[in-house]
Amino acid sequence: MRKKLVAGNWKMNLNYGEAKQLLAKLIEIKSQFNPATEIVICPPAIYLSAFSEHLRNHPEIKLGAQNCYFQDTGAFTGEISPLQLKSLGVKYCIIGHSERREHFNESYEVLSKKVKALLKHEIIPVFCCGEQLEVRNSNVHKEFIMKQIEDSLFQLKPNEISEIVIAYEPIWAIGTGKTATAEQAQEVQGLIRARITKQFGEQVGNAMTIIYGGSCKGDNAKEIFAQADVDGGLVGGASLNAEEFLQISNSFQ
Ligand code: 13P
Repeated sequence: MRKKLVAGNWKMNLNYGEAKQLLAKLIEIKSQFNPATEIVICPPAIYLSAFSEHLRNHPEIKLGAQNCYFQDTGAFTGEISPLQLKSLGVKYCIIGHSERREHFNESYEVLSKKVKALLKHEIIPVFCCGEQLEVRNSNVHKEFIMKQIEDSLFQLKPNEISEIVIAYEPIWAIGTGKTATAEQAQEVQGLIRARITKQFGEQVGNAMTIIYGGSCKGDNAKEIFAQADVDGGLVGGASLNAEEFLQISNSFQ
């Protein structure tokens, strides 16, 4: 069976005291999370070191980063390497979030290098794709999303792409309260799986975890997660509330 996964992307939110409180709350309620679902939190990078210590005895909650650079070490002021993430026990890293593509001009070549660098150190990339509203309104979103995937991931070998999680995040649904309908999420995620299957084979396509992100909330996750090709969620705002994150995480039927 495919891995189910729900990840909280805390983005650039919470001061350290607030972040520690949220972590403590998640640890307090950890036994209520369905053990069949992989639970991941991606706090701001500056908290990863302390969080990895706090989570040492709580393997139910996995740690993820929100970004990394593609070199192992060197003169890259301000950057964080996959090797450094690995040394903290970080298991996942979000790559190609639309906010990074937009505000930090991350190109598909850079994203492709980041994915490879993470795989080299056995950190699982959560590769994001998704279209702007104009693209959807022009009805070219399917081609747009397929190109994002082909450009950054299709140079990988089948055993490499098998390690990746793909997150479909329509940009018009991020932080807007305007969720994609379950049918819209399924349509795109079904296409992503079909494209991966065509390129890398049935086994790879069937096993790939594809999650949805964009105003995923406690009251809509059930319907979205019930879709055949939705294997979980990448949750922004709602992941800053432990109880709602729990509710979303337990939304599989
Ligand atoms: P929201 O859940 O706040 O819409 O954010 C989604 C997202 O960007 C997760 O990476």
